[in-house]
This record gives sequence, structure tokens and C-alpha cells, in this order.
Amino acid sequence: MKTTTLAVKPVRRDLRFTFDSKRMTNWHPDGPHASNFYNTLSVFFPEGEQFFIDSVRHYRDKKQINNKKLLAEISAFIGQEAMHGREHRDYNAAIAAAGLGGEQMDAFVGKLLQTMRKILPPSMQLGGTCALEHLTASLAGYILEDESFLEGADEHMAAVWQWHALEETEHKGVCYDVYEHVVGQDTKAYAIRGSSMIIAMSIFWSSVLPFWLYMNYRSGAMTDLKGWRAGGKILFGRKGILRHFSKDFIDYFRRDFHPWDHDNSAQLKRLEALAQRFAPPAKAA
Ligand SMILES: [Fe+2]
Ligand SMILES: [Fe+2]
Repeated sequence: MKTTTLAVKPVRRDLRFTFDSKRMTNWHPDGPHASNFYNTLSVFFPEGEQFFIDSVRHYRDKKQINNKKLLAEISAFIGQEAMHGREHRDYNAAIAAAGLGGEQMDAFVGKLLQTMRKILPPSMQLGGTCALEHLTASLAGYILEDESFLEGADEHMAAVWQWHALEETEHKGVCYDVYEHVVGQDTKAYAIRGSSMIIAMSIFWSSVLPFWLYMNYRSGAMTDLKGWRAGGKILFGRKGILRHFSKDFIDYFRRDFHPWDHDNSAQLKRLEALAQRFAPPAKAA
């Protein structure tokens, strides 16, 4: 495992954020389309991250993991994703309160993942988790390494996304290491990993894009061409997510791929200041 050569040790942090429903469509300086792109991603997190946790927990609970370091990393991974889910539920409540339809989308994601739990074997559920963890870690890397993604955004909302991006980076190797530990690295394991990536990306992007459109419709922004251009830049622009991710997507199909091949651990220095700023106040004795 390549993480053994890096001093990255994920840690569960209990941070608390607050969300203002009045700012949901304008917290990003590029307006509703840009704000709603991030809002749409948020809708996927609580159910999605619970699916990630369950797919890893399945193997841990069956005692198929005997590496102490990996077991400690799994506990931290579960703790981090649980905290992300909790905070994004509050974020999504603000999206719903703003009338953007987040609650229907959340219910759709929940049903979709319940179906995946029923029809896919555990190895493919874990493969799907690795694929989506690669996507989230890649998106996190773009946000952290190119400040223009969140430049000028509401300071509090930018902090939420930076916190999530930093922790996604911190634990980006965990599910992948679990996959290699329990499913393996042979040709069959590689085929499951690759096909899981294709299935996960097809389902994810074919859900995100209509949800984003719908949220823009609910925001009354369908005819705002300037907004579409600004929001579209995040996805389709020269420095946009899809241009970047097309390379990272292809990279995932290397036989010897590992998430830490891209070592952006220097970014993690930023976590300490965020953790101090958003730690809940200590209870009085
Ligand atoms: Fe997360
Ligand atoms: Fe994650």
C-alpha cells in the first residue's frame, strides 16, 4: 500500500457549520447556477456517504481485514464520512427550506442506492465506492489546488467545501486499500474495479445533471444566460471539472493505479486552522 510511504493519517473531527436558507442560491459569486452545482452535489452526500460506509463495513464486520493500520484508517474514514453526512443533512435542510426541491432528490438517491445494495454483490458495491471516492478526491483536489473555484464565495460556505475537500483528500486511499486487501489486484479484481467505475459514473452524472437543471428551474434561473455561462464554466470550462476529470478517469484504469499517485498531501496543512475555527464550543463542567 502506497500510503505506508506517506505520513497521512485520517482523523475524525467533530466540526459544526450553520447554513442560511436565504443564501442558498447566491452564496457563490457566479450566482445561482454555480451555487446550485455545489448544492446538487450536497444532496448526494448523506445517502451516498452512508453507502460508502456500509460497503467498507461489510468486509470489516466479516473480519476479512486483519491489518491493524488499515482497521484504524477504516474507523477514521467511517467517522469522517458520518460527520460529512451530518453536516450535509443540515446543508440540505437549508436547500429544502429555500424551496429548491432537495428533499425529493435526497429520497431519489436513497431509493437508487437501496436498489444497488440489493442487486450488486459486495465486491461491486465496494468497487463503486472506490470509483466515487476517486471522483470526490479528484474534485476535492481541483477545489484545493485552484482557488478560483471558491474565490469570492460566502466565507462560511467556502469553509464547508474546503473542510469536506480536505478530509476527502485525507482519506482518499482508504477504500482503495480495503478493495485491494479484500477483493485483490488480479485480473478479476481489476475487471470489477473498472466496470464499477463505468457504472458509477454513468449513474452519477446522469442523475447530477438533471438535478442541477431542476434546481436552477426552482431558482427561477432558467432564462438567465449570463448565469448559465458562469455556472457552466465550473463543469465545462477550460479549467472546469469535466476537463480535469477526463484525465483522472482514464488514470483510474491503469493496472497499478493508486489514489496517492497524485500526492497532494501538502494541502492537508490547512486542516488544523479550520478544525480550530469550527470545533463546537466545549460544554461547561
Ligand atoms: Fe465525505
Ligand atoms: Fe470520502
